[in-house]
Amino acid sequence: MSHIRGRFGKGADEAASRYTASIPVDWRLYPYDIAGSIAHARMLARQGIIPSGEADTIVAGLTSVREEIEQGRFDFKAEMEDIHMAIESRLIEKVGEVGGKLHTARSRNDQVALDTRLFLKETIRDTLGRVRELQQAVVGLAERNIDVVVPGYTHLQAGQPVLLAHHLLAYFEMLKRDSDRFGDCFRRTDVMPLGSGAVAGVPYKIDRDFVAGELGFSEVSDNSADAVSDRDFVIEYQAAASLCMMHLSRLAEEVVIWSSSEFGFIEVDDAYATGSSIMPQKKNPDVAELARGRTGRVYGRLLAMLTTMKGLPLAYNRDMQEDKEGLFDVVDTLLATLEVFAGMVSTLKVNPAATRKAAERGYILATDLADYLVRKGVAFRTAHDIVARLVSRAAQAGKSLSELTLAEYKGFAPEFDEDILAISVESSIAARDVPGGTAPGRVKQAIAEARKVLDG
Ligand code: ARG
Repeated sequence: MSHIRGRFGKGADEAASRYTASIPVDWRLYPYDIAGSIAHARMLARQGIIPSGEADTIVAGLTSVREEIEQGRFDFKAEMEDIHMAIESRLIEKVGEVGGKLHTARSRNDQVALDTRLFLKETIRDTLGRVRELQQAVVGLAERNIDVVVPGYTHLQAGQPVLLAHHLLAYFEMLKRDSDRFGDCFRRTDVMPLGSGAVAGVPYKIDRDFVAGELGFSEVSDNSADAVSDRDFVIEYQAAASLCMMHLSRLAEEVVIWSSSEFGFIEVDDAYATGSSIMPQKKNPDVAELARGRTGRVYGRLLAMLTTMKGLPLAYNRDMQEDKEGLFDVVDTLLATLEVFAGMVSTLKVNPAATRKAAERGYILATDLADYLVRKGVAFRTAHDIVARLVSRAAQAGKSLSELTLAEYKGFAPEFDEDILAISVESSIAARDVPGGTAPGRVKQAIAEARKVLDG
């Protein structure tokens, strides 16, 4: 299959070669593969396993292979099978037989585990940065619209009025938990597998801690068979990404619905929308829709990898090569979605008149009427029944709550007094003055806390 002929008398079938090659996908691991090989070569020399002059030659050779790749002069040949073989064989072409010493005390099994972990650690740092940028956009939008009220929905029916900022900060919280999950995933990815060899460890006096230190790992793996054969860290990233995409898809749905002419709460900036090829009046929230759609792709990749790993005997199996395509796709999709959402959210325009109108429509203050009666000593269940009757009568009469007179109120319960007429969206919001509630003071405090998290 590869240029390693091993015990095979004849070359591989061309279709089989193409079938098993991963280089069209795993070429992206080249910077990590080269960094890992350089650390490994230095360690081999320090330990007296290869002469230090030869390690220098190997390191110089690897550095020039990296330059070739970066300058687009490298030929990623499919017959090289994977990026590890491609780099090693180019090294040998360049520096001669001494390049063949690089693979001493190493297997591709621990090598690919190392490369994938290095890739993922850097990716998680990028992910955390992107999540933070989106959180900043969300908090900025909340701050700029601190006085805006919207209906708080349950069952997509207007329930109780809330501050838009409060609604938006819900997404801040989701993203905060997403960050925590990626941070947890980082800790478990930050384990150095090299030295595990193919499965059993290696018969040389290597220094694994030195390699870990060179590559910035916090610890070395404890079991060689485990280190070469688990991909739980890949799955963990995909799972955290799936949850994050789920959150983004909900935000996406709200962007879609809120920007419809029926709602008219927000307007997506032209830069994040497209027109229709046939209906001139349309401005479609495609970015949000595609994010919603791509969430399914990310879930699919998670399920695919879980299924690939299910029932595999220890230790390394070639099935595991399938991890990269799904991981890269999830990473690319998530990072792109986070990036474009930060831009879309920070340029969203809010229409406070429309949100206020919706927040005042209907019987959204019905809960407040019941709470009013409770404060006058009525049991909540009774108060609920009274207000339910009141609302259905008002609806029959085609009247809103603000159109009812005190006499009409008193007709439902004698406890209603003059001050019931002062009940409003503002008083309703202000009354929710509990930790985590939508009262303006609480929301401002939540924004300050969010800022602290973002600056911390
Ligand atoms: N391309 C392989 C992968 O991604 C590298 C490890 C291959 N090891 C082996 N013994 N064939 O999993």
